[in-house]
Amino acid sequence: MNTDVLVIGTGISGLSYAIKLSMLSPKIKITLICKEDLMEGNTRYAQGGIAAVYNFEKDSFEKHIEDTYIAGDRQGDLNVIDFVVKEGTERVNELMEWGAAFDTKETKEIDLAKEGGHSEKRILHHKDHSGSEIQRALIDKIKAIDNIRYLENHILVDLITDHHTKTTHKRCYGAYIISTIDRQVITIASKLTVLTTGGVGQLYEFTTNPRVATGDGLGAAYRAKVKIKNLPYIQFHPTALHPKVNGETFLITEALRGSGGILKNQSGERFMHQYDKREELAPRDIVSRAISEELLSRKESHVLLDATQIDEEVFSSHFPMIKKTCRSIGIDPLNEGIPVIPAAHYSCGGIEVDPNGESSLQGLFAVGECSHTGLHGANRLASNSLLEAIVYAHRAALYSIECIQSIKLSDTFYSNIPNWDGQEYSSNLKVNKTQKLFTKLQQLMSSNAGIFKTNKGLKEASKELNSLYTETLDLYQKNKLTPQLCELRNMVSVAYLLINQALQIKENKGVFYNNDYAKKSIPKAVQS
Ligand code: SIN
Repeated sequence: MNTDVLVIGTGISGLSYAIKLSMLSPKIKITLICKEDLMEGNTRYAQGGIAAVYNFEKDSFEKHIEDTYIAGDRQGDLNVIDFVVKEGTERVNELMEWGAAFDTKETKEIDLAKEGGHSEKRILHHKDHSGSEIQRALIDKIKAIDNIRYLENHILVDLITDHHTKTTHKRCYGAYIISTIDRQVITIASKLTVLTTGGVGQLYEFTTNPRVATGDGLGAAYRAKVKIKNLPYIQFHPTALHPKVNGETFLITEALRGSGGILKNQSGERFMHQYDKREELAPRDIVSRAISEELLSRKESHVLLDATQIDEEVFSSHFPMIKKTCRSIGIDPLNEGIPVIPAAHYSCGGIEVDPNGESSLQGLFAVGECSHTGLHGANRLASNSLLEAIVYAHRAALYSIECIQSIKLSDTFYSNIPNWDGQEYSSNLKVNKTQKLFTKLQQLMSSNAGIFKTNKGLKEASKELNSLYTETLDLYQKNKLTPQLCELRNMVSVAYLLINQALQIKENKGVFYNNDYAKKSIPKAVQS
């Protein structure tokens, strides 16, 4: 299969990139690859919304820039922060033109919410399911565009590089993709390839990310020797519902704390004032660590997010999904505290890209959570992820036009790209073997590479990962490829890189916290 541009991943980054590119050039053939159906992916689970400066009377670009930089523990790239914030307002307007509806007040002004780390109200939202509203609007738009086609139920196997074509152009030429239905591997040759595959939350036992967040783009980029930066900066969201609901960890949006929700231990005592003067609205790294310290020192399974002081009508109209989900497990958030724990939420690191979204491998772009732009520094500011996605999708689309025009390789070159060469293996892999390794990996990462790390734990994990890697490689070499095996292979590669990068970091910044480099004394409970 040949296409001009192959987009792998169909959250806000992939869809808005494709829409923008098709608007810029209706003749370019764009193919989207989607792991399940078009709706599934991290974007639809984003509850809070999208941060942008809208109220210019109270807010300003300067304030949003400063909040982003401070939340990132002053590690972000100020040039990137500057253009993302300043271009963001226009991009959000465009999102609305494309059909995304954000809540308004009676005066018809946009109803802006507040979240941790923000000095002003600047979160545009759609009740407590902003992401699914954005995803809906983008899918409706995509379906009406002729030069975009999409393949659902397909997973990335590997990027096509010189290694496959036996050439030395140092480019990406497309990707091998496997169908999750008939398990056939297809070759898609493309002039440009855009990874929008999202995050790696499934590395951990508790994650707000859906099942599909297995770092496929990152795993493939790693094998293609593309530069990857800051993987150990995994953000844990402070408040995920405990226990899981139907096997999934359900997010309780930060907007609930922004509306007055208070954290308490199981004795009903507030504790955030002991950790930070911004209390419940401190940046996420601080709140997540504070909750974890409380849980470890009090040996409790969860803390409580008390939102009973929020007016019942306001709660019901702003947070209907939270109310419904809590009630489905017998908790009434209008009358009692919601049991919450921190859960793996967002990868601040990823494939290193320039301000146009291009990676270190020519012809390969990365947009959204799988990328590292420099915006987030050591900790992402709440609701800045969707903003980064649309700003970079726009920039990458503009630059893609230039790139396609400059490619000198002939159509024959692309037509002659060899097919995937792993088809001859006939042994059928036992699904439970893959699942067992996956579970082992999640346990290892949760105990050794979670909110609190130690050098000893990281070294043990590195050793353990070597054997997990060998076992996975053995399965991969002896068995017919399955989508589950592709995911496991990606997860093991990403975990290996994350742990080894973590061992190189000698200073605690933002979400990265190694007890061995702690400046303040560590409570006994958190030491091991
Ligand atoms: C939330 O609603 O708390 C999550 C949104 C985000 O991660 O920015």
